[in-house]
Amino acid sequence: TPLVVMASGTGSLLESLIARGGAEDSPFRVAAIVVDRVCRAQEVAQRNDIPLITCRVADHADRSTWDRALTEQVAAIGPEWVVTAGFMKILGPAFLGRFGGRVVNSHPALLPAFPGAHGVAEALDYGVKVTGATVHLVDEGVDTGPILAQQVVTVDDDDTADTLHERIKTVERVLLADVVTALVTRGVVIDGRKARIP
Ligand code: GRF
Repeated sequence: TPLVVMASGTGSLLESLIARGGAEDSPFRVAAIVVDRVCRAQEVAQRNDIPLITCRVADHADRSTWDRALTEQVAAIGPEWVVTAGFMKILGPAFLGRFGGRVVNSHPALLPAFPGAHGVAEALDYGVKVTGATVHLVDEGVDTGPILAQQVVTVDDDDTADTLHERIKTVERVLLADVVTALVTRGVVIDGRKARIP
């Protein structure tokens, strides 16, 4: 089953999906990678010889034109599932209209706590004793879609945002690949705002 993975950063979650997808018995493979900016994830695509789509907002007249262009480019790949792994743009109505319910995201906090681009630093600054990783379906909000899986990560007294985020990413890299494998194999049942993999 072909996946498209979207990234904007170092692409370490992407690398874990490529590794898992490359296993003999994996039910999915990373068919293409989408980035919205120059980033290390582009090098990950090149190194793994996976088709790369670079779709930058700055190259389009406005967000909705970008949204439509991105949708067409991803639709041309024909993915069963789309995974956002550190993709730092909110997906628009055209994209969600086409792929809604089939987009999976990983967030480095226990949603609904600490959504958004600074969830790790906000959790640390708040003084929580545990935080974690959340894998969820993407809806039109910011990190608000139905939750598929979560895993707790303890906050250490000497943690910085970087050390805590790196420890959360260690969990995300496994959790995201596990959830994608389960989704591709067993699908998902959605009941209101709740999601369950049968
Ligand atoms: C991950 O923590 C992800 O949850 C967040 O951005 C980070 C991406 O890390 N949205 P990387 O670029 O895959 O290393």
